[in-house]
Amino acid sequence: MSKDKVVLAYSGGLDTSVAIGWIGEQTGKDVIAVAVDVGQGGEDLEVIRQRALDCGAVDAYVADAKEEFAAEYCMPGLKANARYMGVYPLVSALSRPVITKHLVRAARQFGATTVAHGCTGKGNDQVRFEVSITSQAPDMTCLSPVRDLALTRDVAIEYATKHDLPIETTKHNPFSIDQNVWGRAIETGYLEDIWNAPTKDVYTYTDDPTYPPLPDEVIITFAKGIPVAIDGRECTPLQAIQELNRRAGAQGIGRIDMVEDRLVGIKSREVYECPGAVTLIEAHAELERVTIEREQARFKRIVDNRWAELVYDGQWYSPLKKSLDAFIDSTQEYVNGDVRLRLHAGRAVVEGRRSATSLYDFALATYDTGDTFDQSSSRGFIDIYGLPTKLAAARDAEHGAGVDYGVGNL
Ligand code: ARG
Repeated sequence: MSKDKVVLAYSGGLDTSVAIGWIGEQTGKDVIAVAVDVGQGGEDLEVIRQRALDCGAVDAYVADAKEEFAAEYCMPGLKANARYMGVYPLVSALSRPVITKHLVRAARQFGATTVAHGCTGKGNDQVRFEVSITSQAPDMTCLSPVRDLALTRDVAIEYATKHDLPIETTKHNPFSIDQNVWGRAIETGYLEDIWNAPTKDVYTYTDDPTYPPLPDEVIITFAKGIPVAIDGRECTPLQAIQELNRRAGAQGIGRIDMVEDRLVGIKSREVYECPGAVTLIEAHAELERVTIEREQARFKRIVDNRWAELVYDGQWYSPLKKSLDAFIDSTQEYVNGDVRLRLHAGRAVVEGRRSATSLYDFALATYDTGDTFDQSSSRGFIDIYGLPTKLAAARDAEHGAGVDYGVGNL
């Protein structure tokens, strides 16, 4: 009988390279390494595949998921203007659902029933991996070698040295970094003292906005909420993100330094750089302000916020998230047109918008000649609109001070 198998989310780094042999020793199972390219850059997938095999994996599965990640994960994030706590564009949170999709696919292909990942027991990502995996494959079991099999950093270095694994053990990066095409997340080291400012070496996607090059004007064309051209040149979602990462990154746009609320209850400090994501969200949100009807837009802001929380919390595959997707998609029908932005010195500022499906009516808005808004209608509107509160105020006047709202004598 062949051995049980474990599919491992493999990055090619020290920890997951050691995890291959460690899981084998601790569980007696064969390990299949799975590496997914979501635009994190760095080594070639083939190099990573070979290293997995050299570290003892019985097989390796590599997937270029860049286009898929951009189109099916980042674009829903853009349509939702998704920024957790109003700030963080969900870089890592968006990548876990696509990575787990490939993990589950590989597990099925190789007949594995356990899926392992390299996350610690303190973060959001363990939750995202495991909830996403069991949401797609309720029959699977999850394993975290760091959390469940005591694979600490020291143990990993000792193991790699002892077994002469083809992996660097001496290079000490003070930061824990996760990156993909939607952005980059940097934590730990001296950033854990939240009074410390990030130093220059933290950033790689963005240049220092203090010394910017000349302003860069860009026109982004959207169709149904999705970027389809930049400066008139057609592009895929991946190309749009990549081009804006480059151009907005050169201007130092999308640097974020925040303390955030993790799902496991900890407040943690994270630095992000998301030049393309931030530029696209700024542009998309403004185009929505032009094209989405007021009440739908007001409600969408609530839905967008909830969507971001669900995705942050590892609920990508949940029924509620799917329902919110249906609402969000229904709002994007008329989010078409061009947004012109000025990228400069750390900011992406919208300067122009035009849309064939706009609700902006120049004749209604103008204070100049040609005004079609009938100002005489406003009087009656205000009388009726203000009526409920006017009645309540009259009652207060008749029956004394009314309700004490705790604001003292105004
Ligand atoms: N705090 C972010 C999140 O939970 C990013 C985590 C990424 N990990 C890292 N090693 N920087 O989505």
